Amino acid sequence: MPPNPWYRTATFYELLPRAFRDSNGDGVGDLAGIIERLEYLEWLGVDCIWLPPFFDSPLRDGGYDVSDYLSVHPDLGTVEDMAQLLDAGHRRGLRVIADLPINHTSDAHPWFREARMPGSPMRNWYVWDETGSRYPEARIIFLDYEASNWTWDPVAEANYWHRFYHHQPDLNYDNPEVGEAVLDVMRFWLDLGFDGFRLDAVPYLYERDGTNCENLPETHAYLKRVRRTIDEEYGGDRVLLAEANQWPIDAAAYFGDGDECHMNFHFPVMPRLYMALAREHVRDIVKILRDTPPIPETCQWGIFLRNHDELTLEMVTDEDREFMWDVYAPEPASRLNLGIRRRLTPLVGNDRRALELLHGLLFSLPGSPILYYGDEIGMGDDISLPDRDGVRTPMQWDGSLHAGFTGSGVDAAAVYPPIVAAEAYRPEQANVAAQRADPGSLLNWVRSMLAVRREHPEMGRGTFEILEHDNDAVLAFVRGMGSRATLVAVNVSEHPQAVHLPSLAGRVEAGDADLIVDPTGLIVQIGPLEFRWLRLS
Ligand code: GLC
Repeated sequence: MPPNPWYRTATFYELLPRAFRDSNGDGVGDLAGIIERLEYLEWLGVDCIWLPPFFDSPLRDGGYDVSDYLSVHPDLGTVEDMAQLLDAGHRRGLRVIADLPINHTSDAHPWFREARMPGSPMRNWYVWDETGSRYPEARIIFLDYEASNWTWDPVAEANYWHRFYHHQPDLNYDNPEVGEAVLDVMRFWLDLGFDGFRLDAVPYLYERDGTNCENLPETHAYLKRVRRTIDEEYGGDRVLLAEANQWPIDAAAYFGDGDECHMNFHFPVMPRLYMALAREHVRDIVKILRDTPPIPETCQWGIFLRNHDELTLEMVTDEDREFMWDVYAPEPASRLNLGIRRRLTPLVGNDRRALELLHGLLFSLPGSPILYYGDEIGMGDDISLPDRDGVRTPMQWDGSLHAGFTGSGVDAAAVYPPIVAAEAYRPEQANVAAQRADPGSLLNWVRSMLAVRREHPEMGRGTFEILEHDNDAVLAFVRGMGSRATLVAVNVSEHPQAVHLPSLAGRVEAGDADLIVDPTGLIVQIGPLEFRWLRLS
């Protein structure tokens, strides 16, 4: 039992170091820039920063292609700068977790360079096959870019295994030296002061014939070993957040019996929030939550609306995927692999009601909310950029040239990805400074919701009970903890709705024109695309 399950009531904030704030005028965000903006994150009211990979890398997959795990990419700063960032964050009460791609390295990593050499003693640090036909049941993840999970290496004279880009060879966890080396990487960053890790792409650590090579028992055994090591060597309050994009039963397996990862993303619930808005009913959300098993007391889901990747549609049916594409990605250019490469605000057509409704769900469904930088100010995207770059553009701090991301004297060509130029989302339209000053802004609304949520620990740690009723435009549930209980009612339709909740007879005081208390229960009336949080006795 960890002494301090802080992650169960925390709000996480994902920010891309290259895109947040450039302190030295080279057009690329850096660690010193993040330090300059910690004041903002503290003001906003988030608790933990998630830093996507900042290690040295050829940057062919946004840094998820690591060439040196014990370094900071020179564009971003140094290990010393990272120590300062951790220290400055901790002084403001902000924790920081590092995103660690442990499934694969870059093909530029010295381990791989050595392993491919004929006769190398390190050959079995990676996964090889003469024919490149082994493990045919494993799906291809980057469908738009790769035709096979094997790539021929003329130097090694063999094929190597990779679940993502061909320049990202998978490490071979059957070799115990690999697992040890990865633990040493973790120790290095934990010693520096990190509060834990997002463990990138963990379902794929091991391969076995006759399986789809995901969620294997050997993978869970290794993750339990990581957990044991960290608990023993660092005490109990560092956190492991798995990135296991799986159906609920398989995703919940990453919690073990409370002895594996503390957190895992709930990938399947995310697209269903958007489906509910488009279909004006909540049946898909209810179904997936009912299919989600209970999880150990010390564990927590991570829930999110968007992140640095495409909005993944891997965990929906083929029919639902077509529906999502039709509604949210009618232009082919906005589709990528099995997903949609757009940001939150453009996805919902810049509709403030939809943005508030989705955040209302994010802050009350079971799990810790994870925000993606820029969504709190309604930032746009740029689908003219390749791959996922269009959702990774610089944070818009003010309405000046370069949005206050970097100095206005910097050559625009040095800023990559470029600042969003679409009319409705240009820095003049969406920026932190203007929204901080405007009490009615989206930013101030998100901030005040975070403050309200902080006063509702039941949203993080409480029980969750979906209420039965006969209006499927409304999701109604109760979050309870000790003597506290809050009713959440969300109307996903464009029309006013009412729900009759028999089980709440006598538990809410009237006194609000939208509430009708009668002996048979409680009737809650909710406007189009609105949500209510009501304290229950
Ligand atoms: C994870 C990351 C993604 C990356 C992939 C391969 O899914 O979120 O950005 O491309 O792993 O490392």
